[in-house]
Amino acid sequence: MASICFLLTLLGYLSFVAGSLVPQEGHPNITHSLNVSTCPGYTLHSLLETDTGISAWLGVAGPACNAFGRDVVNLTVEVTYEISTRLHVNIFDTANAQFTIPESVVPLESGSTAINKNNSDLQFNFEVSPFAFWITRRSAGSDNHTESQPLFDTRISSLPATPISPVIPLDNSTALDGFPLVFEDQYLQLTSALPLNANIYGLGEIIASSGFRRDVGANGGNGTIQTMWARDITDPIDQNIYGVHPVYMEHRFDEATQKSQTHGVLLFSASGSDILLLTPPSFNTSLIQYRMITGTLDLYFFSGPTPQTVIEQYGQLIGFPTWQPYFGFGFHLCRWGYSNVSETKEQVTKMREAGIPLEVMWNDIDLYHAVRDFTTDPVSFPASEMKAFIDELHANNQHYIPIVDAAVAKQINSSDIYDPYTRGVELQTFMKNPDDSEYIGQVWPGYTVFPDWFSKNAETWWTEALKNWSQSAIDFDGIWLDMNEVSSFCTGSCGTGADLSNTTIPGLFLPGTPESPVVDYPEGYDSSKWGPSGNVSINGTLTFGSDTPIPPMLLKRGLGAGKQSGISVNDPPYAIHNGNGPLSVHTLATNATHANGLIELDTHNLHGLMETKATHQALLSIHPSKRPFIISRSTTLSSGRYAGHWLGDNFNTCGFIGNTDEELCNRWMQLSAFMPFFRNHNQRGALSQEPYRWDSVAEASRKAIGVRYQLLPYWYTLFANASMMGTPPIRALFYEFPDEPELFSVDRQFLIGREILITPVLTPNVSTVNGIFPGRGTVVWRDWYTHNVVNTTNDGSTTSLPAPLGHINVHIRDGSVLLLHDKPVYTVTETRAGPFALLVCLSNDGSAFGTAYIDDGETVPPTPNTTLTFEASKGQKLELSPKGSFRISQTLETLIILGVPREPAQILLNGQRVHSNSWKYIAAQEKVVLTGMNVNLNILTRISWS
Ligand code: GLC
Repeated sequence: MASICFLLTLLGYLSFVAGSLVPQEGHPNITHSLNVSTCPGYTLHSLLETDTGISAWLGVAGPACNAFGRDVVNLTVEVTYEISTRLHVNIFDTANAQFTIPESVVPLESGSTAINKNNSDLQFNFEVSPFAFWITRRSAGSDNHTESQPLFDTRISSLPATPISPVIPLDNSTALDGFPLVFEDQYLQLTSALPLNANIYGLGEIIASSGFRRDVGANGGNGTIQTMWARDITDPIDQNIYGVHPVYMEHRFDEATQKSQTHGVLLFSASGSDILLLTPPSFNTSLIQYRMITGTLDLYFFSGPTPQTVIEQYGQLIGFPTWQPYFGFGFHLCRWGYSNVSETKEQVTKMREAGIPLEVMWNDIDLYHAVRDFTTDPVSFPASEMKAFIDELHANNQHYIPIVDAAVAKQINSSDIYDPYTRGVELQTFMKNPDDSEYIGQVWPGYTVFPDWFSKNAETWWTEALKNWSQSAIDFDGIWLDMNEVSSFCTGSCGTGADLSNTTIPGLFLPGTPESPVVDYPEGYDSSKWGPSGNVSINGTLTFGSDTPIPPMLLKRGLGAGKQSGISVNDPPYAIHNGNGPLSVHTLATNATHANGLIELDTHNLHGLMETKATHQALLSIHPSKRPFIISRSTTLSSGRYAGHWLGDNFNTCGFIGNTDEELCNRWMQLSAFMPFFRNHNQRGALSQEPYRWDSVAEASRKAIGVRYQLLPYWYTLFANASMMGTPPIRALFYEFPDEPELFSVDRQFLIGREILITPVLTPNVSTVNGIFPGRGTVVWRDWYTHNVVNTTNDGSTTSLPAPLGHINVHIRDGSVLLLHDKPVYTVTETRAGPFALLVCLSNDGSAFGTAYIDDGETVPPTPNTTLTFEASKGQKLELSPKGSFRISQTLETLIILGVPREPAQILLNGQRVHSNSWKYIAAQEKVVLTGMNVNLNILTRISWS
């Protein structure tokens, strides 16, 4: 059926091309206008409707406005009901000249998929002239109050084009002056109405001053200009940073019914763009406006109707997150500035001496010879010593990960042999200038070239380089991909004609040099008074007043001067609000050219993804049986299929930029123990911050890592579910409690899966923290450490919790069953070899449910696996049932059941009475504890109490 409809669509398309409208020929004269309101919009001329969608042909509705490029005269609209929860609306130039993301770069679960439109949750509606469309839910209009307003609605384009004063500080060129659909070769604009003060989440990568819920400019907010242009920058507020994810989720809550529904919208594009969220003063709606400088308007709508299902549906289209190896969840230690192999080894020794689990040791670019990828410095990191060091780590069940920078050093002369460069030249794997000469930029090693991931030999060359490195000296367990936005320290091409023998990088680029001392300290830090520990004494006494002013956030910038004349690859007429200003600053020139003729202007945002993909394939080829472990700084749509991500150059934490102090590092180590990727990384030249450096941090780290390692089977199951279904492991509170509006902005607490609530301390100098306990009193939350029930409120207000230094609040939701490692030890491998424990938190009706996904933790799926299902019912029995072919060698030794109101008279394990020495009841926590159980998890087990 689907294929017949597809054929009909195709036939319709052919008859159209042969018939009515003539494809665009030549280019109209270009007169740039600031005034988008003069743009004519489009009229629908013909249409083919099938059971699975619509093909429509649009023509420009009046004289071209050529606002920031040349109006495209003929457009095609393809609407496909792909699956019941996903609708695809693709508006593209009929001539197909605009750049689109190649299928080889981001393969989608799309294209041939189509269903009968009557089976879709979503409906496409349109108006002929000016052409506009809106998306509704099929169920809307009946009893559905939440969505009487369409999910997406471009009819705003037909509003009178009177200039509207902007609410965000836009410069002249970008002022909001009407909402027509604009489709030009260098400027595309599409605007949709949103509910007033809509709950919008997403549109990354950003550190937004508004927090997790984006600012749509209502209720006194400034609105948002989210710029999509991957950029190497020490984390600014409200500006474009390393990654580009033009996808958002909108969560709608209806006051009348107190119910919510969620949907998602993806712009499948790599275009440099601004995405605006705003609420013009006289409007009773908020707006989203896309402004793109290349590409097409390729939109996907996901019907949800919950936050979690939206995320799953998005993952189903672009690909689920890659499978992570078990060791990846251990603690990682890194810094820029371990200057030789002994200093690196010393960290491993000191961590063990302090009893702080260290799973993975890392090296930064210090490892390299002359800061060149795939090398080791012969003096400070001799290959033989590195090999012995990594072998020793492996013998101790530990791991090693080095950095790989995106740019490749240019070999200066024939005596300066650098194989990765010469081999790349031979295989033609580097970017070119438009005149076909080698494109040269500048990064840490001095002058560099850049892999052209579109060139046909790039992956082979990259694999070869990584394989040689791994076999000669660095037998790595994963790869850290840095600088892949891609970063270059000069503006555009800078090597052509330069003195290439001058390879040294100016000192100011290297923190910790006299030109660039590291002088940032955390709030309240006083080294003269407190020494290297900074602002806290060992017992956690607070040392500066709570009235210490918190420095203001960076102010929103007003960058992006428009340029109204001339069309240029180097300087597109519409200037997106790139934090660096012109697009070629601190990256490749937009005219840098790929092997297949593509230019950076179109492909810039794909660089990190393509490098990550090539690295993933390379690692699979080096170790076919092992899951690649990769983190990448630059990410975009589908990067998660190949790698994880870290936050780049974040400020003043045990994370990266600036100096830390004892208090901050203590809080940081505890909070990060509840993040998926747990790595302490430090800047060159800053104070040391390994967790063993302060006793209080060491103690706090041991405690938090202990909890993390107990929870590893739970983390692993969450990530398996992400890889199989796209279910997010880390959740905002409203994902689980979508009908509680007081949670919609909460981003200072989070959930791990459904069950674990984390309430960290995020401010200095406090010993309590306020947390909200979702569920409005209907959910029983128990403290992780004491198992005491929290006395929560039922009106959605916050509860004050003790949070002395060295303690992080962790709470468990009722109705849950968590498989745990019973007694975590130093490494993940040894911890995994030990027995399991089971923690059951009964809800008030005596039920609880949980699953655990278990496999060998390293083989690339499909691989034998077993899912354990745990189910408690009626408050007196628990069943543990396995499904799958993976044999679980560890036994279940300990069982804790919380929420048993009375001491049982007896407990039966598979029908046999458990000896009273093997269990106890603790009334204060309504807790039953069984020990020494020796249960085989490969067979059905029943436990009952009465
Ligand atoms: C970049 C990375 C940082 C790394 C440094 C040196 O700033 O973001 O993590 O330590 O380069 O390689």
